[in-house]
Amino acid sequence: MMKKVSKNFWKDKKVLITGHTGFKGSWLSFWLNEMGAIVTGYALDPPTNPSFFKLLNLKSKIKSVYGDIRDLNSVKKHVKGAEIIFHLAAQALVLESYNNPVETYTTNIIGTVNLFEACREQKTLKAIINVTTDKCYKNREKPEIAYKESEPMGGFDPYSNSKACSELVTDSYRKSFFNSGAKIGIATARAGNVIGGGDFAYDRLIPDCVRGIMNRQKIIIRNPYSTRPWQHVLDPLSGYLILAESLCKSPKEFSEGWNFGPKEKGAKSVIEVVRTFCKLWDDEVKYQIKKDPRARHEASYLRLNSSKAQKKLLWKPRWDSETAVRKTVEWYKAYLNKENLEKLTSVQIRSY
Ligand SMILES: NC(=O)c1ccc[n+]([C@@H]2O[C@H](COP(=O)([O-])OP(=O)(O)OC[C@H]3O[C@@H](n4cnc5c(N)ncnc54)[C@H](O)[C@@H]3O)[C@@H](O)[C@H]2O)c1
Repeated sequence: MMKKVSKNFWKDKKVLITGHTGFKGSWLSFWLNEMGAIVTGYALDPPTNPSFFKLLNLKSKIKSVYGDIRDLNSVKKHVKGAEIIFHLAAQALVLESYNNPVETYTTNIIGTVNLFEACREQKTLKAIINVTTDKCYKNREKPEIAYKESEPMGGFDPYSNSKACSELVTDSYRKSFFNSGAKIGIATARAGNVIGGGDFAYDRLIPDCVRGIMNRQKIIIRNPYSTRPWQHVLDPLSGYLILAESLCKSPKEFSEGWNFGPKEKGAKSVIEVVRTFCKLWDDEVKYQIKKDPRARHEASYLRLNSSKAQKKLLWKPRWDSETAVRKTVEWYKAYLNKENLEKLTSVQIRSY
């Protein structure tokens, strides 16, 4: 059996999303708004220009608060009244974390501490989901390993490491101040490498491909044989939503860490994803492998085992990697053709 996101559950729910101006936060805000939830977003300005947040016209659809997650008083003010919180605000890029480790650590760790501090005083709250990452696990660089939730935390680069710390902070707050989730459900969600329309971040594969096409240049690939659990953004988001529904019904039972990986057992290499992207876009699109000898360390192999979410939450990833890339190509083509992106995004969510 497979569970679907319940539209009825979300209608009129008061939801706070931190990081709502980012790639995943914009998708989540839009989806929840379409289901009739009362959404408040808390974040800095959109991290990219163009941004999905602006293209979806989200400012006019939800209550959008500009605020820094490192500012405890401000966070306290804006969590008031929320029933469910999705915490996505983060410095979310591996390479940027090498350039700005202090900002990465303060945003990703102190930001998490601030959110939980603010939540301690909330009476209306039922569930909090801290969105971390597949990169929080101690990576043993073995292609045969698919990480389960019980694996130790780790993280080589400051981004991955800060997210592992954010996991530990969540666990401590859950046990120390929330009675292990007795009344307010507290979970973490670890998803794979997400693709989908609306991502314009630097040093991410699909946005780099789209920029190559826009500039009529070959797509440059840095690490062709790195494997990642690629998935369409709607797959993990449906997992977060189903997890939140379960936390509200039975907080203690679901207050733990959850993997939301892709459909395939094996993750795909970068080169496989790029080949699919080029095939689906246009045969004329070309790519070139250009390794950077001074490149920073990035993990070579990363796979997630999501059987726990499939068994206990009845969540299942729906779109295989080819479908994920096809939906992504469809979205960026519409973007380049200046089509109605609110309509297309809504259609993609409905088709999901
Ligand atoms: N995109 C992926 O492939 C992926 C994979 C796994 C996990 N994640 C996690 O999902 C979450 C969202 O990722 P994304 O791809 O949408 O990232 P993004 O960079 O597009 O968005 C980040 C959001 O955080 C906000 N933010 C950053 N610093 C802030 C601060 N100091 N105070 C308040 N807000 C701040 C930004 O304004 C933005 O809204 C992150 O926690 C990320 O680590 C992403």
